[in-house]
Amino acid sequence: MTDFSALVEEAHSAFANTQTPAELENAKALFLGKTGKVTELMKGLAALSVDEKKTRGAAINVAKQAIEAALQQRRQELADQELQAQLASEQLDVTLPGRRQSAQGGLHPITLAQERIEAIFASMGFDVADGPEIESDWFSFTSLNNPPNHPARSMQDTFYVDAVGADGNYYNLRPHTSPMQVRYAQAHVRKHGGDFDIAKNQLFAGDMPEIRVIAPGRTYRVDSDATHSPMFHQVEGLWIGEAVSFKDLKAVYLNFITQFFETNALKLRFRPSYFPFTEPSAEIDIMFESGPLKGRWLEVSGSGQVHPNVIRNMGLDPERYIGFAFGSGIDRLAMLRYGVSDLRQFFEGDIRFLSQFQ
Ligand code: PHE
Repeated sequence: MTDFSALVEEAHSAFANTQTPAELENAKALFLGKTGKVTELMKGLAALSVDEKKTRGAAINVAKQAIEAALQQRRQELADQELQAQLASEQLDVTLPGRRQSAQGGLHPITLAQERIEAIFASMGFDVADGPEIESDWFSFTSLNNPPNHPARSMQDTFYVDAVGADGNYYNLRPHTSPMQVRYAQAHVRKHGGDFDIAKNQLFAGDMPEIRVIAPGRTYRVDSDATHSPMFHQVEGLWIGEAVSFKDLKAVYLNFITQFFETNALKLRFRPSYFPFTEPSAEIDIMFESGPLKGRWLEVSGSGQVHPNVIRNMGLDPERYIGFAFGSGIDRLAMLRYGVSDLRQFFEGDIRFLSQFQ
């Protein structure tokens, strides 16, 4: 008998039934081990004739090699299986969504409004300046043609700081951004080589680039209701040159307001008013021609032609330099743009309110 294909078949299925390398090694022993079936067949050759040995021996060898090949194949299969199992257990699923921060922050609506304002004025060639919120009496009032003890000071319910500065000034939480008119203008004049000494009435009347600036920021007054908060925001505007007039103010402001509200369907009017630092002075009112606020005049800004005394305090000769200023409420503009009816909502920190602006 030289056909050992049944034995090879048996080994094949024995190997195939194993699930681990250890099981496979046990199965191997059944065929190729010391007392295994192939080994026993070899041992049986000893009793045969030389010719029988040759043919039967060769056939056993073929079967042995087939079994060894089957063993090797199964070893490889089990090793592959093991690797696959390991890979599967260590798999990193890159398709899983990342863990989000549960609450994402965003810019405050007042900041959004202020950034809009800055971008619009920057597009008209205005610089954007920042100034101190604790301000001296001189910059807040005196330099703005509002002398000590003048009744016009009581137009603003100012917070005073209970200390006198090294410069002999009383300090206050600035009640408006107007001190930035004189601060910025003085710095501008100096920057462009203008020498001045206000005390000696030595003023600059030479050439300099025009002053064109807005100064947004926080302002403070003793005031609190649905449309007033003790801390609020203003944006000061200032344009000083040699021939700057009210018509420029109107053009600039109309351009600003139509861009801010993204509509041409509004009207603008000047209403006579009084401020110590402008003459003539005017309130700026706007009226929407459509939408929920349609048909009502809404006050958005104080404004006027800068008073010659203020021009002087800037270090400039009012015989040569002239211009306009305005001061608008940023919170008011934001309320109108976003349809907010109570100013206090801006400052309560209620996430449900604030998240609507993200
Ligand atoms: N500072 C004024 C206010 O707070 C507004 C204003 C600014 C008016 C500039 C005229 C010119 O009411």
